[in-house]
Amino acid sequence: VEMTFILPNDTEKTFQMPLGASLMEVGRDNEMPNIEGTCGGNLECATCHVIVDPAFAEKLPPVSEEEEDMLEYAIGRTPNSRLSCQLTATREINGLRVMIPTAVP
Ligand code: FES
Repeated sequence: VEMTFILPNDTEKTFQMPLGASLMEVGRDNEMPNIEGTCGGNLECATCHVIVDPAFAEKLPPVSEEEEDMLEYAIGRTPNSRLSCQLTATREINGLRVMIPTAVP
């Protein structure tokens, strides 16, 4: 499926995501700024924070308690903030667009 990162400088980068991959892995492996994924997707960092395009917010799985706890450390959190390691590629989210925040914790 296809997804697009909107970088802090407003440029857009679109990638193909294999089904089952996490958004954090795609961002990290393509060296997107501020997507560090330091904890490897274990909900222990918040360096994978992204802001989801509101049009897609409802298509994503709800925020778990663990994700909620860790999101408190995200800098510049918004109502559509998510931890990208918790967002897995499915056909429903084809075309997903997320903004990368300007700072990492
Ligand atoms: Fe650490 Fe997502 S990679 S919380």
